[in-house]
Amino acid sequence: MTHWYCTLCHTETSSKDQPERCPNCSGEKIMLTDKEAGIPKTPEDVRDIARKRLKGLCAAYPACDGNFDKICQKEAYGKPIGFGGAGQGAGFRANALALSAIRLKTRVVGEHVEPDTRTRFLGLDLDFPVMAASTAGIERYNNVVSEVDFCRAVVRGSREAGTIGWRGDTWFYTPENNPALRVLKQEKGHGIPIFKPRAQDVLKKLISLAEEAGCPAVGMDLDGCGSTIMAKHGQPVFRKSMAEIRELVEFSSLPFIAKGIMDPDDAEACAEAGVKVVSVSNHGGRVLDSVPGTAEVLPEICHRLKGRVFITADGGVRTGYDVLKMLASGADAVLLGRDIIRAAVGGGSLGVKLHLDHIHKVLKKALFMTGQASARGANSKILC
Ligand SMILES: Cc1cc2nc3c(=O)[nH]c(=O)nc-3n(C[C@H](O)[C@H](O)[C@H](O)COP(=O)(O)O)c2cc1C
Repeated sequence: MTHWYCTLCHTETSSKDQPERCPNCSGEKIMLTDKEAGIPKTPEDVRDIARKRLKGLCAAYPACDGNFDKICQKEAYGKPIGFGGAGQGAGFRANALALSAIRLKTRVVGEHVEPDTRTRFLGLDLDFPVMAASTAGIERYNNVVSEVDFCRAVVRGSREAGTIGWRGDTWFYTPENNPALRVLKQEKGHGIPIFKPRAQDVLKKLISLAEEAGCPAVGMDLDGCGSTIMAKHGQPVFRKSMAEIRELVEFSSLPFIAKGIMDPDDAEACAEAGVKVVSVSNHGGRVLDSVPGTAEVLPEICHRLKGRVFITADGGVRTGYDVLKMLASGADAVLLGRDIIRAAVGGGSLGVKLHLDHIHKVLKKALFMTGQASARGANSKILC
């Protein structure tokens, strides 16, 4: 008899052969781990599993920076984007380079305090200012995990780590068959759907479904407007005018997030249209090549908008130190993309929680060593 541990719902079951599904949460086979062979205990254990499952797509390198030597960028011509960046991956690389160019000041003289990492986001109390970024389409990567289980892993793992997961949108999601919204409904709305900039009437349908699911907010990745695969599957996407953004903000009873902002004037326009959150992001360098790193454009956007809207930043954030760099550059919270995908693929919600707990721990250390009493108080004085 083998004891199987479900990495999605943390229950155990005993049977000779690996069950096709978890009898408790119906998570697929891949989520069930042989207890004796070892349940993942560290983010490294989870990465080792993810590396095998994502063979040919992503090698879960210690430095996920989109460099030419990385499997996701190699032989990019004509290859589906996978985990990589658009074109030659210069935008993807710029995210990592921008963060590595920022350094932290060590400050060790002063009161001994345990840094407070808590924050408030749209009325929610988060244990630390880090959330899982909106991602989608992972089911099609080596077919290792179903889209529904992937969404469940991100949403549950984020909640278990004391934060919240955002969910993405892609060409095989429709208002009628939407894995993210289905999971969010099951999980009592503990997650935030970010929709592609589809036709206004489709977006209104999706927003209504998010309201029904009990989500605390909705949003749109405005930089998803260049997606050709959406149009190819009969779900066209569009650039959105300020009037159209305002129409959606007014239609929704929930706070609205504008994701994919890289320019202060765009940020300003979104704020004027009534969005509550501006999400500074270049989509992990996946929608346009040769863009700057998000950490480069963040200070100017924050300078203009700090206090008027909640500002998130993402792109190349791999450690708690990177999180602190984004916070000190003006972000109110930070999103993690590729690392959360790897964590969910390698270890379900357990993997996501292990990863986020580790980021939380290192963020605390980074705050402590830079003499910061709280994550909310971090500012550019600690950067050099
Ligand atoms: C495989 C993959 C799928 C993604 N899907 C979406 C999506 O559906 N919607 C969205 O807003 N962003 C999407 N993103 C972008 C992320 O939300 C985030 O901006 C980016 O991954 C952050 O960079 P990082 O991966 O370097 O952390 C995706 C990113 C990846 C790598």
